[in-house]
Amino acid sequence: MDKIKKIYEEKINLLSKYNKFYYEKSEPKISDQQYDILKNEILLLENKYKFLRSKNSPSKIVGYKPSKNFKKFQHRVSMLSLSNAFSEEDLKNFEKRILNFLSENQEFKILYSAEPKIDGISASLTYKNGKFERGLSRGDGKEGEDITSNLATIKDIPKKILDKDFPRDIDIRGEVFIKNSDFESIKEKFANPRNAASGSLRQKNPEDTKKIPLNFIAYTFGFEQGLKQKNQSDYLKKLDEWGFKTNPLNKTISGIKNLIQNYKNVEQQRTNLDFDIDGIVYKINNFELQKRLGNVANAPRWAIAHKFSSNKAISKILDIDIQIGRTGALTPVAKIKPINIGGVLVSNATLHNEDEIKRKDIRIGDTVTVERAGDVIPHILSVDFNKRPKKSAK
Ligand code: IVH
Repeated sequence: MDKIKKIYEEKINLLSKYNKFYYEKSEPKISDQQYDILKNEILLLENKYKFLRSKNSPSKIVGYKPSKNFKKFQHRVSMLSLSNAFSEEDLKNFEKRILNFLSENQEFKILYSAEPKIDGISASLTYKNGKFERGLSRGDGKEGEDITSNLATIKDIPKKILDKDFPRDIDIRGEVFIKNSDFESIKEKFANPRNAASGSLRQKNPEDTKKIPLNFIAYTFGFEQGLKQKNQSDYLKKLDEWGFKTNPLNKTISGIKNLIQNYKNVEQQRTNLDFDIDGIVYKINNFELQKRLGNVANAPRWAIAHKFSSNKAISKILDIDIQIGRTGALTPVAKIKPINIGGVLVSNATLHNEDEIKRKDIRIGDTVTVERAGDVIPHILSVDFNKRPKKSAK
């Protein structure tokens, strides 16, 4: 038990450290996928061992405290996080939980708004009587930074909305991001497009923010007074009319099979898009149902993020074994430091044969990229020669 507690606390500490870098310094230390895996491992441990508890658990906190550079404001309605789904199974369970909660049977048809999840920085924009008054970062979900003047430099953010249907008081929420093509010209300064968006939103001088071409896509709302729409798809349509940008790949879909089909379609288009997406967000379309379902801890019960799976990860070769197959064939196998690839813990990678080892110049102690595609045995894609220990042997 003590061992489990220790492992758990190590993971919590690691996550807190990564949070600090991400939210305070806008300088992520690990990829989103690695972050999700770590978060998931913590949640799985908590689920299995009920005695595990921490105030820094991802089940308790959203994001991190805002930095000291900007004035802070309470969000009138908290900015929540989303729980993740990685498989069809996860989606089935998500729908099952919803039907259960609503006391409905399998026949009950749920319509979802399926929206590609843009990998940027979320912001909440307060409009009073059609006028853009204040813009906050997400911060810790309860309290955000006042970045109004930086947000005001973004062309996609309307400053005045005259439409008589526009609510008299509303927080419009969405994602600030930078296009991959625009990132090209500034890539020396930032690690990735999201980092660039986050960094430029936090400039002290809005003139500096203005130099970086930021975009905004709207997808939800927080506090509202006078919103007439009854469902998400109508709301998204209205956002367009009011002058906001929405994601052109948004769809309304029902049935898990159709969600999966759409997921696959979008995943294929992913490389052709000019912005990064890391999954699809599914939201129950009907606002009334959303309200009935409410939230659990820091995520709504009525929405989930279906993440694209990464099938690659970086690990280290601990040893090389020779395996003898049924037919007597000898296959070299790399014993690698166990690593979670798309939800599966991988500790072996095939090296195929001697030629393959020579061709890729794979050695014990090397840092390597491992790929696991479908059900085939994981294999080594490449070696990071910069990380090779000085005394390594062929
Ligand atoms: S809705 C309560 N819709 O995902 C629902 N979020 O992990 C939460 N995101 O902080 C927000 N695309 O930065 C929503 N179409 C979309 C989204 C989206 C990206 C981000 C957003 C949020 C995070 C939740």
